[in-house]
Amino acid sequence: MALAASASPPRRPAAPLDVEAVRRDFPILSTRVNGKPLVYLDNAATGQRPLAVIEAVRRSMAEQNANVHRGVHTLSEQATLAYDAVREDARAFLNAPAGHEVIFVRGTTEGINLVAQSYGRTTLRPGDEILLTTMEHHSNIVPWQIVAGQTGAVVRAIPITDAGEVDLDAYRSLLGPRTKIVGVVHISNALGTINPVAEMTRLAHEAGAVVVVDGAQAAPHTAVDVQALGCDFYACSGHKMFGPTGVGLLWGRTELLDAMPPWQGGGDMIHTVSFTGTTFAPLPAKFEAGTPAIAEVIGLGAAIRYLRGIGFDAIGAWEHALLERATALVSAVPGVRLVGTARQKAGVLSFTLAGVHPHDLGTILDADGVAIRAGHHCAQPVMDRFGVHATARASFAFYNTFDEIDALVRGLHRAREVFA
Ligand code: ALA
Repeated sequence: MALAASASPPRRPAAPLDVEAVRRDFPILSTRVNGKPLVYLDNAATGQRPLAVIEAVRRSMAEQNANVHRGVHTLSEQATLAYDAVREDARAFLNAPAGHEVIFVRGTTEGINLVAQSYGRTTLRPGDEILLTTMEHHSNIVPWQIVAGQTGAVVRAIPITDAGEVDLDAYRSLLGPRTKIVGVVHISNALGTINPVAEMTRLAHEAGAVVVVDGAQAAPHTAVDVQALGCDFYACSGHKMFGPTGVGLLWGRTELLDAMPPWQGGGDMIHTVSFTGTTFAPLPAKFEAGTPAIAEVIGLGAAIRYLRGIGFDAIGAWEHALLERATALVSAVPGVRLVGTARQKAGVLSFTLAGVHPHDLGTILDADGVAIRAGHHCAQPVMDRFGVHATARASFAFYNTFDEIDALVRGLHRAREVFA
């Protein structure tokens, strides 16, 4: 089906991005799925990897493989240098004040669990409150429920509006002397909402609470500045930033990290060990027990440098244009209900289509090579809030094109015909 040009929003964003050149950096984007060119619109689940990342991982494994921080031999020194250098890339990426505040973790989930089990478990007392927005991913809910069970603290949900924005008045009224921790997702994976993290942090700090930010969806799409946000902890995942799986970043303030006990014990995180007692290494090693994900960290460094090379001004402008076009065209399809219409949104379009289950829609689109996600997106409280079991979700990255959005829309029309 041809899309009416007169009804189409503009196809050019404000900042330049040579999308065809960018796409050539991603081998998978020129592959076919089910005989059709791949249209990858599941970037909130995981991003694709550019050649720079693939090559960095390959080189680490093929030419530089040795354990880090342990050997005196040349290979180990090379691996250690390559691994350690990524900490500065990560520090600069987050605009963190110091490299030792950046902990390499397995991903956002592990970062938040670390904070919950180390900071939360040692500071929370019975009756203390942990406030979480209703739009949190399960990874910023369940770790807090576990630590609440261990400490007697209480988890409370901050309501969200029909548009999918945090209800700031309700948030203000929930904050109080019992509030010890506020957890907030920077950009919602289920709704696309960009939350006012700096404002929420300021209010939390006035109440004496620390703020833990889930940055999994923000780090790939927007310049993160932990100092400007003012938060206390910030976690993100390498694989959503076009890097490898199994690696991510946790940033925390020095004074908090220094006071926190290790959460895992083992090699590389100690100063001295004896059966009469053990002393721990300084930051960041204190939180990095065992052999780390060496090739993955090095690959993440390549991803960070790649993202910085393109620049978040260009990325943001392109993705905003994609979202505008997708929002206009998808919402014009009869029977579509958008879930998440916040004023500040990133490139996530969640929706339902009347008479077509999101999973069926996903299957029909897949037959055309169009990959979206269907389900609850690990955010069941969001689904409950909007009275749905699941949504279909298209999520964009800077390498997506306007033609790919048109392919998505054609697929929606086809699904309507199939289920008519
Ligand atoms: N949290 C990831 C998503 O939203 C997996 O799809």
